[in-house]
Amino acid sequence: MSTAVILAAGEGTRMKSDVPKVLHKLCGKTMIGHVLDALKPVVEKSIVIIGHRAEEVRASIGENVIYAYQYQQRGTGHAVNQALSSIPEQGDVLIVCGDTPLLTQDIFEGLLAFHRSEGCAAVVLTANLDNPFGYGRIIRDKTGKVTKIKEEKDANEEERKIREINTGTYCVNAQLLKETLALISDDNENREYYLTDLVEILSNQQKKVSAFKIDDFFLAQGINTRVQLSEAEAVLRKRINEKLMLEGVTMVDPASIYIDVDVKVGKDTVIMPQTIVQGRTQIGERCVIGPQSRLVDSTLADKVTFQNSIILESIVEEEANIGPFAYIRPESRICRGAKVGDFVEIKKSQIGSGSKVPHLSYVGDTTVGERANLGAGTIIVNYDGVTKHHSYIEDGAFVGCNSNLIAPVVIGEGAYVAAGSTIKENVPQNALAIGRAAQVNKLKGAERLRSILKSKKNK
Ligand code: UD1
Ligand code: CA
Repeated sequence: MSTAVILAAGEGTRMKSDVPKVLHKLCGKTMIGHVLDALKPVVEKSIVIIGHRAEEVRASIGENVIYAYQYQQRGTGHAVNQALSSIPEQGDVLIVCGDTPLLTQDIFEGLLAFHRSEGCAAVVLTANLDNPFGYGRIIRDKTGKVTKIKEEKDANEEERKIREINTGTYCVNAQLLKETLALISDDNENREYYLTDLVEILSNQQKKVSAFKIDDFFLAQGINTRVQLSEAEAVLRKRINEKLMLEGVTMVDPASIYIDVDVKVGKDTVIMPQTIVQGRTQIGERCVIGPQSRLVDSTLADKVTFQNSIILESIVEEEANIGPFAYIRPESRICRGAKVGDFVEIKKSQIGSGSKVPHLSYVGDTTVGERANLGAGTIIVNYDGVTKHHSYIEDGAFVGCNSNLIAPVVIGEGAYVAAGSTIKENVPQNALAIGRAAQVNKLKGAERLRSILKSKKNK
């Protein structure tokens, strides 16, 4: 049995933020979300210690973990102590900070496997740094055994020269952790209960404490500032893109492609530069996405073309063709083989399969059937200033260019709306609706008009 204890009670003042530190996001997920996701396959139970803006943190994480409250931040040892009653009597406990989003499942598994195979009481995840300033130093005896961790403030000059540091991640035997926590005091420079004191206590009891060194410290580094947040996000982004490429997604210039961690992309899809794919978006196989596109919480089936466009919380079926410069707003569905072309805005509407809205249109609150055609400049007048109304354009209807359809209205199956019409009555099936003034041609009228205008100008 293994349990995780995640420390997330601190404020994180250097973020200069009203948002709790662990709720800042990288690649669409909070720092603590990343930590919990990496731990999930490794542990049976996660206990999150919250304090600063506790309810916000709890609301963000949800109720799939156990919470312990630390009302006053009196040190890392004090923090873990708040979880005491939820820590099982047996097994191993991974102790992790909520602000280390680059730690992976592999690292946690490695730490746990090392802890077990070496038969340790406790293992500290350590790293060698050129500049160890600010970190707790790993103190070893002459035989190389880890005997204690000294915080920067409490260390003497010799100890400060030690380059091996405590990353703040540990694996500890549950029973020994529970026994030892009670023995930690706040007798130090900061008057804090240091979790790190458990190393010295266990070592004095002749229990085995070891260090598990990580080659790339960056992966274990806690994030304190927004600069570090952006650096960590860059690492994460590269990881996401490389994973997708190895799964069969082509990325033209991956450095300019931003994909959130929970996004799914099918194989043989090509993603062009400057494309942002966010949230719970899922993209099928053999699609071409981008360049310069943004997809948020949307689902695209196979063989969709989506260029220079934006889509939010919507669905696109197979072989649909979107863009360039389309804006598809929430609750829309673009059905199989439909086309939404340039400078078209779709809002809360369905465009039936094989239907075309090729250019310069606004379609809001409308159900468009199959094989319909909305000519350039078709505008659905869906809002009367008070209420939004729903319209229907049925199968095979043809709406001529520059028509205004005043909602609620129904354009019947196979009906035809003459270009330039303003339609406010329903159009029956197969009818031709003409809603525009009749044309008048005045012979030689242009000549007469010009001479009138010129004589006015010369006055
Ligand atoms: C701690 C370690 C230090 C290590 C460093 C790595 C101790 C005494 N020292 O130092 O050896 O090199 O991490 O970054 O543990 N927290 C709480 N409640 C508290 C105090 C802290 O929840 O009362 C949380 C913080 O939110 C943070 C984590 O614990 O996520 C670490 O706390 P922090 O104050 O950053 O520890 P350091 O003093 O930097
Ligand atoms: Ca710290």
